[in-house]
Amino acid sequence: MRTNQPQTIYLSDYQAPAYFVDQVDLRFELFEDGARVHSKLALRRNPEASVGAPLELNGDSLTLESLTLDGEALPASRYQNEGDKLVVPGVPAKFELAVVTWIEPQKNTRLEGLYKSSGMFCTQCEAEGFRCITYYPDRPDVMARFRTRVEADKSAYPILLSNGNPVEQGDLDDGRHFVTWEDPFPKPAYLFALVAGDLLEKKDTFTTCSGRNIDLRMYVEPRNSEKCDYAMDALKRSMRWDEEVYGREYDLDIFMIVAVDDFNMGAMENKGLNIFNSSCVLASQDTATDAAFQRIEAIVAHEYFHNWSGNRVTCRDWFQLSLKEGFTVFRDSQFSADMGSPTVKRIEDVTLLRTAQFAEDAGPMAHPIRPASYMEITNFYTLTIYEKGAEVVRMLHNLLGSEMFRKGSDLYFERHDGQAVTTDDFVRAMEDASGRDLNQFRLWYEQAGTPIVTVVDDYDESDGIYRLTIKQSIPDTPGQTHKKPQHIPFAMGLLNRAGEPLPLNLSAEEQNGPQDRVLELTESEHCVEFHGLSERPVPSLLRDFSAPVRVQYSWTREQLLFLMSHDPDGFNRWDAGQRLAVDVIQSLLGAPDDAPIEPRLVDAYRQLLNNVSLDQALVAKMLLLPSEAYLVELSEQADVPAIHAARERVLKHLAHALRDELLTCYQRNLDHGDYRLSPEAIARRSLRNIALAWLLHIDDEQALALASEQVENADNMTDRLGALRAMVNSRFETQRNQALTAFYQRFSDDPQVVELWFSVQASSDRAGQLPQIQQLLQHPAFDWKNPNKVRSVVGAFAGQNLSAFHSPDGTGYQFLAEQVCRLDDSNPQIAARLVSPLTRWKKFAPHHREQMKAALERIRDKDELSRDVYEVVHKSLAD
Ligand code: TRP
Ligand code: ZN
Repeated sequence: MRTNQPQTIYLSDYQAPAYFVDQVDLRFELFEDGARVHSKLALRRNPEASVGAPLELNGDSLTLESLTLDGEALPASRYQNEGDKLVVPGVPAKFELAVVTWIEPQKNTRLEGLYKSSGMFCTQCEAEGFRCITYYPDRPDVMARFRTRVEADKSAYPILLSNGNPVEQGDLDDGRHFVTWEDPFPKPAYLFALVAGDLLEKKDTFTTCSGRNIDLRMYVEPRNSEKCDYAMDALKRSMRWDEEVYGREYDLDIFMIVAVDDFNMGAMENKGLNIFNSSCVLASQDTATDAAFQRIEAIVAHEYFHNWSGNRVTCRDWFQLSLKEGFTVFRDSQFSADMGSPTVKRIEDVTLLRTAQFAEDAGPMAHPIRPASYMEITNFYTLTIYEKGAEVVRMLHNLLGSEMFRKGSDLYFERHDGQAVTTDDFVRAMEDASGRDLNQFRLWYEQAGTPIVTVVDDYDESDGIYRLTIKQSIPDTPGQTHKKPQHIPFAMGLLNRAGEPLPLNLSAEEQNGPQDRVLELTESEHCVEFHGLSERPVPSLLRDFSAPVRVQYSWTREQLLFLMSHDPDGFNRWDAGQRLAVDVIQSLLGAPDDAPIEPRLVDAYRQLLNNVSLDQALVAKMLLLPSEAYLVELSEQADVPAIHAARERVLKHLAHALRDELLTCYQRNLDHGDYRLSPEAIARRSLRNIALAWLLHIDDEQALALASEQVENADNMTDRLGALRAMVNSRFETQRNQALTAFYQRFSDDPQVVELWFSVQASSDRAGQLPQIQQLLQHPAFDWKNPNKVRSVVGAFAGQNLSAFHSPDGTGYQFLAEQVCRLDDSNPQIAARLVSPLTRWKKFAPHHREQMKAALERIRDKDELSRDVYEVVHKSLAD
């Protein structure tokens, strides 16, 4: 395990490396009890470094077998090997270092570096995993050409892969063989990858815009043979899209994707050899939900897009992580929007941002998208870096317009190809290409916290002027107070009483102003006047969520109802519905059981259910009530049982009042033809499963019959799981248990489906109370070593089953603390991520708060805490 008092690393301490690596020659000997790694580094002193500068290499969990400098073995007196650093003083300006290390992938449960997952060897080197393979200057600003020879038993590991192109292969003694790979593109060590296993190969090809033929390959365990088509297709669409939209062509002759079951995150963009968590790449109609298909499409695209935004142009240091992640998430969200419904994609992204990233930005781990310090970098693969980072790039796109943005990205790629750069280099390219001054905009990279934009309006009948006073403020976050106003693009429009868009005339002279405007907020207060209005307009604010901010405006329920059915901006239609539902639910918090529920809410939902002319995908999104997590995020002192009860009351009230409409909606959206993945088909499935879920929430017998039939006979996983979930959340306990058992029996040999089965139960307040969670942990299919299983039970319970997790006796918190402590010894990355639901303890009502704090203290007091968990727990407990 790691040290007990981890060091903080500061961006301001950044120094260029004293030595560069030009070439790396690796030879891996893979055995059943470990692996020997032979590494030869061609090193060269940085001309900027001083002559006496020692060579510093990182290492973690390595056994050093030998160290040779220019052919001469170095005695132990010639270097210091202190825990995680190997320091060699007195080295020449140019030399070759040969290092031999012994490692034990079979015992690697952290899943960093080289490890084994269901019989295959695989690697995960981002961010700092390469140092678990060999001693190396493991930092992204050291970019080298890699040549990798992999040797292993031929029958157990017929497939041997690494980055780049295969250049040599052959047989060795004792039934062993080797393959040598060469990657012509210099890269940081975090992009290194190796895979060895008995894998099935799926082949396809892609012809690039310049006519080059690329070999596409997927490598999966033989049992997953039928689950590759969708990812392969998504890959080809991504490759074409990146050519068309960003002018980016693929650069190697081969592109490979490997699926592994044990993986800490979603997937990894290793050069030419992307490695995926099985659940983020394998799919078939029978085993994957629509949501899973969409996630696969997005992640395949994301990793592929990294080839330019991340690999060809990489990060100087890990403080710049959002340079590649924010930009690449923006790119993959543009791609998904182009492949399906842009409005729905926007709603999904904003839901995640507002529910989880806003919470992170208001909590003890809040950090700017370019952090100033960290203890453990893997804790900074956050929603802030990824999702807020993408929003910041989106704002640049909106401020510059598509054309200038493209000029900026072309300049960025051209100027920095082959370099390790900073977020500032990215902004500068955008600035240079467009001629715009982005100085104030840069504050988005430096200041943490979600800006609050407050809007007050006033209409003067006598002169026909409508005035908006718009103020911004940014809350304090750990280590940051008194923040400067940021540059916020604020898109808006005005509607008249008939629901028609009005021209936005900014002066008395202007006559036919545009119906949409992006106000650029740069001061803490602006006053904007709209002229020539003969009636008081209804404002549509922050259209398409043009900036990651909280908007405060005192909407009346009339206005929200009006916007829900009239706003030409689809996103704001949805948002108005959400705000209305939030307002209604919040007004019931702590109210007596018979307090009346806003009747117009029922009418609005009835209209939605009956509306067959509106985009049905949007209707499906609009029917979803705000989640408990979002309601928690919106409250000052969250009282979870009260939130749960109020939301349940509204849901049940709507379901009772709209029973007939729901049944009609279910019937109307039944499919009779073949299964399709089009947006329309997805919307139909979504609508009928929402109808089932609502009806089973009120224990409707007719809906039970429909669900029982559907869970048994559905021809796809979306419908099967939709029905199962609805039954699990009903009071029909016998049928629920029968359905769960039958479902498990049918899919027990498919890990991805078993994960769904776990999470449906763990996230349900009916089937996922603590004793039932304990039982799931005892289930034979549960496996502490598999992050997906841990996430599907422990993560789903603490993150999605709020009323059970926050049960008033505090047992949910203690349970989580126990599991974090247990996991910390085997997989600190996953353990640290699991702590997250406890970190926001200050946001909860007093009866939750003290017990949450106690659970954090219990983790803090564990012996030998990893650096990962140490950082999260100590920051959460600091005042
Ligand atoms: N770069 C990966 C991505 O596409 C993130 C990632 C994958 C990662 N595996 C990881 C980060 C392990 C840290 C640790 O977003
Ligand atoms: Zn990424």
